[in-house]
Amino acid sequence: MLEWQSSLETGIEEVDAQHKHLVNLTNTLKEEILAQLSYDNYDRIMEIISELKDYTVAHFRVEEQMMKAHMADIKDDKELALFWDYFKKHKKEHSDFIDKVNQVGAKDIDSQQDEISINLTEFLMNWLVNHIMKIDMELPKYIAG
Ligand SMILES: [Fe+2]
Repeated sequence: MLEWQSSLETGIEEVDAQHKHLVNLTNTLKEEILAQLSYDNYDRIMEIISELKDYTVAHFRVEEQMMKAHMADIKDDKELALFWDYFKKHKKEHSDFIDKVNQVGAKDIDSQQDEISINLTEFLMNWLVNHIMKIDMELPKYIAG
């Protein structure tokens, strides 16, 4: 399971609360996948995956809106260039992630359930921790007035 830890905190309340929820959802997914080893849990797994997809899309939108809102206030050209690089890099990670999660089709999970699902949770957990620590952690620096 992925434990929430203070090193994952950006200090932006709304973002941290959403990250916590994402961590909970990936943990729930892992539990449901482990349960799959004892009984057929396909429907529940698909339900959690779809909830995770929807929540992630909404969460990314919140972060991107925060960045966009701040971008409009930047007057200095150099600062704007730096910000723009960060924004592009951040947005690209989000869209790559959504592409990756969308590739996981219902068919795959039905035919090779255990392997695909375990790989997926590993991927989700690693991605989350990495993205939060490397990219989201810089958010306050870029959106602070
Ligand atoms: Fe992000």
